[in-house]
Amino acid sequence: MKKLEIIIRPEKLETLKAILVKNEYNGMTVTAAMGCGHQKTLADKSERETMEVNLLPKIHVMTVVLDEDMEEILTEIHEKLSTGNVGDGTVFVSEVIDVMRIRTGERGHKVL
Ligand SMILES: Nc1ncnc2c1ncn2[C@@H]1O[C@H](COP(=O)(O)OP(=O)(O)OP(=O)(O)O)[C@@H](O)[C@H]1O
Ligand SMILES: [Mg+2]
Repeated sequence: MKKLEIIIRPEKLETLKAILVKNEYNGMTVTAAMGCGHQKTLADKSERETMEVNLLPKIHVMTVVLDEDMEEILTEIHEKLSTGNVGDGTVFVSEVIDVMRIRTGERGHKVL
């Protein structure tokens, strides 16, 4: 299993949800976030060294998927969420070693 932490523009949330549901994942955690990537602001290099980090509103979607579904989901995110402009977001991928449904104690990928 892989955990995808998907940081996106707020207006892209519906598109992302459609991608996940189409790939048969309804389980997701969505959080309003503030973030900063490479561009602190549009200032020149000398200004950048003294500038404060400029946080912008983002949406953070956390979802855990099967290994075999990850590439298709990443491809669709790139195809449908890239505007070509800076600030489109980032996906962090990490390994998940186990999952448990608290109600039943079930473990592993059947919980997804
Ligand atoms: N190293 C990081 N650790 C945690 N979160 C990060 C990191 N880098 C970026 N983020 C998050 O991802 C969001 C995506 O930022 P952004 O889209 O500006 O990425 P970028 O790498 O600057 O790419 P681009 O050049 O397309 O703007 C940030 O707002 C922040 O929430
Ligand atoms: Mg950026």
